[in-house]
Amino acid sequence: MMQTRVAIIGAGPSGLLLSEILAQQGIESIVLERETRQHVLARIRAGVLEQTTVDVLRRWGLARRLDEQGHVHDGMKIVWAGRNSFFIDVHRHCGKRFTAYGQSRIQEDLYAAADARGAAILHGVRNVRFGSLQGTPARVAFEHEGQAREIECDFIAGCDGFHGVSRPSIPAGNVHVFDKTYPFGWLGVLSETPPLHEIIYANHPRGFALASQRSPSLSRYYIQVPMGTDIAEWPDERFWAELKARFPQELAERIVAGPSIEKSIAPLRSFVAEPMRHGRLFLAGDAAHIVPPTGAKGLNLAVSDIYYLSRALAAFYRDDDDTLLEHYSDTALRRVWHSERTSWYLTRLLHRFPDTSDFDQRMKEYELEYLLSSPHAQAALAEQYAGLPLEGWQ
Ligand code: APR
Ligand code: PHB
Repeated sequence: MMQTRVAIIGAGPSGLLLSEILAQQGIESIVLERETRQHVLARIRAGVLEQTTVDVLRRWGLARRLDEQGHVHDGMKIVWAGRNSFFIDVHRHCGKRFTAYGQSRIQEDLYAAADARGAAILHGVRNVRFGSLQGTPARVAFEHEGQAREIECDFIAGCDGFHGVSRPSIPAGNVHVFDKTYPFGWLGVLSETPPLHEIIYANHPRGFALASQRSPSLSRYYIQVPMGTDIAEWPDERFWAELKARFPQELAERIVAGPSIEKSIAPLRSFVAEPMRHGRLFLAGDAAHIVPPTGAKGLNLAVSDIYYLSRALAAFYRDDDDTLLEHYSDTALRRVWHSERTSWYLTRLLHRFPDTSDFDQRMKEYELEYLLSSPHAQAALAEQYAGLPLEGWQ
């Protein structure tokens, strides 16, 4: 039997960030992770950080490498119909910038901070399950290195991603799920080639494409592929040819092709579970919500959830005040739904849907025309793309 204040399920960005912020305020936690550390570090995911995310990481001393190596952008570009791109200037409209810096690097930075303080993280745990979520103490049972173990704690933080055990542990009838799937996925390639300088979204009759980056020598590209696509059908040469076909010629000529060092297909989904709390269990990050990757909101939402949850737990332990804990779900969900709407909107605007009528297609083209011609429309998109400010941030 172990005892701690907060049992954190999952060592992804949500779980490790929570344990770090709590530790810096003298609040003890134990992190339980199903996979090995190597496995967690090897996951390649999005890499665009909102200003608020950078602010949170800086405040907790986690941004040293990010400040050195992150690539700061003022905005992003959209291209369509073979025409030259237009730029949505987020900085001019909202005074905010964002930073290209891979999630795998954030994961490394979080592990480095955890090592430096000798954090309690158990990898390879099996069969995590909870006792009653209503009484105190809360209990988490699991197996580790072949032994049955148990933790007694005040709270459980469900940071175990979309396929974790936390959300399904909430008894039926206590959670409302909002779910939308899209009839396509993103085929993503990471390549050791110099990227284009900007983040560029392409809407093309052949399907959506995106040019992004991880560092000055590492590019990240995506193309829309039909649901159920077999990755074996996409050798590198086919990927590069298709990617270039979806960008205007002038940009296509600047794309530097090379061997892929990672290639995967991710489905697109919008998902929210409400509320993000049941008794002593608090959900954060992908455990509570999924966004389609268009707009790169997933990691940023994980960070804002953790900001709200850590602030609420700190107020509880420091001031014996549970007001922020009581409001955690509502507060976090305001930001979640805002980003859900942005990523849904961008997904709809930029992709080709298989059953789009001619009328709907024209509507989309004229929506893009409107965006191109109206500084007001651009300002609105810039504001959504930048993300909402964090409530209570000083
Ligand atoms: N027991 C213990 N650990 C588990 C369990 C379980 N039953 N199920 C899942 N996990 C672990 C996973 O192995 C993973 O390491 O929980 C972790 C969840 O991490 P993520 O899926 O990365 O979720 P989160 O930390 O919320 O990160 C938010 O932002 O860019 C997005 O989706 C992207 O992962 C990213 C997310
Ligand atoms: C990425 O770099 O992985 C990325 C960038 C922008 C997006 C989505 C993903 O909208």
